[in-house]
Amino acid sequence: MEGLLQGQRRVLRRPGLAGRRLQDGPHPQGPPGDQRAAAAGGGALTLAASLPDFPWDRLAPAAARARSHPEGVVDLSVGTPVDPTPALVQRALAGAADAPGYPQTWGTPALRSAVAAWFARRRGVPGLDPDGVLPTVGSKELVAWLPTLLGAGPGDVVVHPEVAYPTYDVGARIARATPLASDALTAAGPARVPLVWVNSPSNPTGRVLPVEHLREVVAWARERGAVVASDECYAELVWSGRAPSVLDPEVCGGSHEGLLAVYSLSKQSNLAGYRAAFVAGDPALVRRLLEVRKHAGMIVPWPVQAALTAALGDDEHVQEQRERYRRRREVLLGALTGAGFRVDHSEAGLYLWATRDEPCWDTVGWLAERGVLVAPGEFYGAAGARHVRVALTATDERVGAVAARLTG
Ligand SMILES: Cc1ncc(COP(=O)(O)O)c(C=O)c1O
Repeated sequence: MEGLLQGQRRVLRRPGLAGRRLQDGPHPQGPPGDQRAAAAGGGALTLAASLPDFPWDRLAPAAARARSHPEGVVDLSVGTPVDPTPALVQRALAGAADAPGYPQTWGTPALRSAVAAWFARRRGVPGLDPDGVLPTVGSKELVAWLPTLLGAGPGDVVVHPEVAYPTYDVGARIARATPLASDALTAAGPARVPLVWVNSPSNPTGRVLPVEHLREVVAWARERGAVVASDECYAELVWSGRAPSVLDPEVCGGSHEGLLAVYSLSKQSNLAGYRAAFVAGDPALVRRLLEVRKHAGMIVPWPVQAALTAALGDDEHVQEQRERYRRRREVLLGALTGAGFRVDHSEAGLYLWATRDEPCWDTVGWLAERGVLVAPGEFYGAAGARHVRVALTATDERVGAVAARLTG
């Protein structure tokens, strides 16, 4: 195990390899050069240097090729919603615009009750304690800071899925802990593991973890004293069956001890621009997070809390959005399989995990020739090197264009 940890530390220092992991999409804050310039101080520079480079730049040539298509690019490389924010959510935001005082870090009682009611109604989790709910500034923020908020540090191993949303790795690095990309918990050996991430439905693969799998993770973590954080932000976008929550009594035996479900309304309610998300589960753990977040000013603005509460109380707009994505998924699935692709997993979520059994950059190039931009699977870990991730987040018109280009 010590060998593994040393290996991991070497990975942390090797810019070439670190560069394989990335943020999920181009940095809205500006190019990475800005980040390095801003990090001129010693400690900050060390932290910045331990974080991944910005590999979306490597997609630039394919993007240029796709953009030169005479009928325009179809950009399926990032999972950013394109449909309108529901009117009732916009109204709730506007109705709370008069907000002279500081908002509650813990969230309003109405918001925390709305989360508990949503878990009971939509996720098969009755009796969630509203004290175990905490709003977050989008879920990416929580993913990036959770190891730090839990007090993880050097010598600790944070386990996350082998093919994964890159911010799990980033969060471990921010805490100066060691990220371990593995689907086998035994890979951690005897190391101290304060935190295990699961992500179901998965970004990028769309895989849903069944009750039995989650139960095993929870049992392992409880034996080792690890927290399980389950990132479930695509749970309402399941194409057949359901995606169980880590808080489901069938998974956790009715006790939320040591468990956190991480959730976001970015996708299901077209709210990515609001940064509206929450974490829920063990009230004692949530209180620990709350203590630090209060000191650090990690507060969700009051109008966003009001919007989040309204969105959670309305299932109709989620149903409408789900049906939009279901139709787009069917069109894209048909187009890809018709063009000889194999689509693996993808039973839920906003992506098709597709392959032509060739290196992912060849597939990226082939699609770019046809004006379609997708993300190379290698961005999500070495095990993704022969897949591409195709997002469902484009308008019906653009999705229709893909079908015409691939089958035409
Ligand atoms: C698995 C996963 N977790 C978290 C996030 C972050 O979502 P947000 O910060 O918009 O809540 C994303 C976004 O793509 C994701 O795919």
